[in-house]
Amino acid sequence: MEQEYFYLERKCFRFKQEHSCLEQEHSCLEREHSCVEREHSCLERERSHLERKNSHLELDDSRLERESSSSNAQFPIPKIMNTSINLFTPVQLGSYTLPNRIVMAPMTRLRAIDNIPNELMATYYAQRASAGLIVTECTAISPLSLGYINCPGIYTEAQIAGWRLVTDAVHQQGGRIFIQLWHSGRVGHPALLGGELPVAPSAIAGVGSLHTPIGKVSLETPRALEINEIAVIIEQFRQGAANALAAGFDGVELHGAFGYLIDQFLQDCSNQRTDEYGGSMENRSRFVLQVVEAVASVYGGDRVGIKLSPSNTFYGMYDSNPKETFSYVINALNSFGLAYLHLMEANEVDLSTRAVINPVTPYFRQIFKGTLIANGGYDHSTGNDILAKNDADLVSFGRLFIANPDLPQRFQINAELNNPDPQTFYGPDAQGYTDYSFLVNS
Ligand SMILES: Cc1cc2nc3c(=O)[nH]c(=O)nc-3n(C[C@H](O)[C@H](O)[C@H](O)COP(=O)(O)O)c2cc1C
Repeated sequence: MEQEYFYLERKCFRFKQEHSCLEQEHSCLEREHSCVEREHSCLERERSHLERKNSHLELDDSRLERESSSSNAQFPIPKIMNTSINLFTPVQLGSYTLPNRIVMAPMTRLRAIDNIPNELMATYYAQRASAGLIVTECTAISPLSLGYINCPGIYTEAQIAGWRLVTDAVHQQGGRIFIQLWHSGRVGHPALLGGELPVAPSAIAGVGSLHTPIGKVSLETPRALEINEIAVIIEQFRQGAANALAAGFDGVELHGAFGYLIDQFLQDCSNQRTDEYGGSMENRSRFVLQVVEAVASVYGGDRVGIKLSPSNTFYGMYDSNPKETFSYVINALNSFGLAYLHLMEANEVDLSTRAVINPVTPYFRQIFKGTLIANGGYDHSTGNDILAKNDADLVSFGRLFIANPDLPQRFQINAELNNPDPQTFYGPDAQGYTDYSFLVNS
């Protein structure tokens, strides 16, 4: 009995010892945890300090060059991944609160017979209404800006009524939709323009070809715009925005990318004017800034976005100093309080020719103070990565949205994606347009 008692006492003593060891270990872990927390909050403070410092830098042109080549390039600021922000984190875009950060990129699909939007297009866009934001295909502001057969316009009553079908259908599904306003400039052909020559800042032909009613033709040398005609086009952009408002659009994106008229004014390969719209980058930016001002006078800056593609070489585009040119214009855009800037990355063709800025988005993140949409080759994982790195606020998807009308849902549950069929990208009918399967049907 005594022995048993002694044995139990020893066991009890051992338990007590073990318990106190565990307590010590626990308090050690607690100390370690609070150290890590302190370190984390220090790093967060450092990161927000660096971000503030960055955004307060005086971004005049020469200094921007120095900073990007010294502090950013040689001593990159360490990025802390903020994995709490992803494609499904709601976001404020101008005056709208979006349920997710997944944008449907603008895509020309050439289903607008006679340039008038229709029921088929309404079905197509409504199918994709779960995007945080839809941006429509590029839409002509005047008959002289129609670069393609069966692309839509927004300059007649019939076109406004046609677009009303689209905006109503998207709104009924709970979505938001911006129209992409567009002037094709030198990317045109008399066969598409009632026999008239396309117009451009200067009489310099783009590189490439177009499908027209008389077949595939090379781009022709355009006619240089008279200075008084420039004011007319700016007014057509303003009227296009007013018509878009009448058609029920939630906002407007200006097509400033891909070698169309706005881009042609910006880059010196296509703008060799000697008046106030050419020469210095201040002059080459004048047109786009006046267009932004005109469109914002209708919608307010917070419902206007713009797409730029500083590294794309479509239709033979280039600039002798793209960093300087695009830094200047993007800095100037800061004063409009825009809903967003939409930037496209270079693709393989651009990289194999003369893309100078790569990647584009982090570079201009340092300059643009508003909301930034990244575009170009993103998928679910790389889209989340760029948001977590805080290099962009939203991501737009083009080809993935063609083939996956319910792209957000597929991302959310990591479902398999349908593959887009390039043969049916550009018309003529519902095939490859509204017949891609939804998850529930597949
Ligand atoms: C069929 C097709 C048509 C396009 N049309 C337009 C257009 O009208 N306006 C525009 O800004 N970009 C247009 N783009 C470019 C897309 O908006 C986007 O920048 C490009 O597809 C890269 O994004 P992704 O890699 O997610 O597809 C088009 C792209 C495709 C595939």
